[in-house]
Amino acid sequence: MNRISLLQRPRRNRQSAAIRDMVRETVLTAQDFILPLFIIDGENKSEAIASMPGISRLSPDLIVSACKDAHAAGIPAVALFPCLGDSKKDPLATEGSNPDGLFQDTIKRIKDAVPEIAIVSDVAMDPYSSDGHDGLVRDGEILNDPTLEILAAIAISQAEAGADIIAPSDMMDGRIAYIRDVLDESGFEKVAILAYSAKYASSFYGPFRDALDSAPKEGDKKTYQMDPANLREAIREVELDIAEGADMVMIKPALPYLDVVKTISDFSTVPVAAYNVSGEYAMIKAAGQLGWLDAEQAAMESVLSIKRAGADIILTYFAMELADKL
Ligand code: PBG
Repeated sequence: MNRISLLQRPRRNRQSAAIRDMVRETVLTAQDFILPLFIIDGENKSEAIASMPGISRLSPDLIVSACKDAHAAGIPAVALFPCLGDSKKDPLATEGSNPDGLFQDTIKRIKDAVPEIAIVSDVAMDPYSSDGHDGLVRDGEILNDPTLEILAAIAISQAEAGADIIAPSDMMDGRIAYIRDVLDESGFEKVAILAYSAKYASSFYGPFRDALDSAPKEGDKKTYQMDPANLREAIREVELDIAEGADMVMIKPALPYLDVVKTISDFSTVPVAAYNVSGEYAMIKAAGQLGWLDAEQAAMESVLSIKRAGADIILTYFAMELADKL
């Protein structure tokens, strides 16, 4: 064969591990992660979640241990979600602002035991609502403005318990400004807001709703969560949330929406988070269990892709296993 003269040989930069390490553009670290945790009542109680292999609902004492482990692994924050029985749910999500509720109590216990870890607390009505919706339901309609008052009460009780970052996940209009105002009025001007700004009406939340038993009793979430078809609308939501005072914004889910992550991270003036949700986790775990792919490598590659797309912060159920390997 004749000698081929090529000026450009991109493979030169891939020829050894040393060179690949040198030219790598995106490096994942444990500091990029927020670890989501599911809380149940009790003591020394751990309930496996069938649709999320490796993830369990934990009683507050075990949540504290999980926070210690996460901190030791270099993970800076945890995102908490309560799992409540039907007896604690009502149409007004009253339990959400109970100062002695399971959620608030767990926040206090984490703050006492592991003050270094940042606590992200989810604000929405669904874990506490007998309707299973993120807002107040009247005649089948999800009401916007009356919901804001309830969300603000939930946020205040979480801030009082010691939450560092309030994360409204409900997609009601105007909630960031409303919650910011009420937090400041109550002396919580140091408590940050991570806005679930572009949260899509996604089938990938299925395992999470199993984990919390929080699926809507009637209807779906399409009048408040976003249409998966829309990108421009995500820009509008993010711009509004930044204008309303959000300290960080979030796109959710992550993998099917990497174009949204990329678009938002190109213009956002605040840090951008992406939520690698329960369904994204379940798919990889399930394929791994069937022997159809290497789940560990697929997890690493997926989460790396979310960072490459521009996310500064990644909420992921893989956080602990990946942190151990990084
Ligand atoms: C609810 C909430 C959901 C998730 C986080 N907060 C589900 C929903 O909107 O029904 C999903 C997280 C996941 O799937 O991992 N406010």
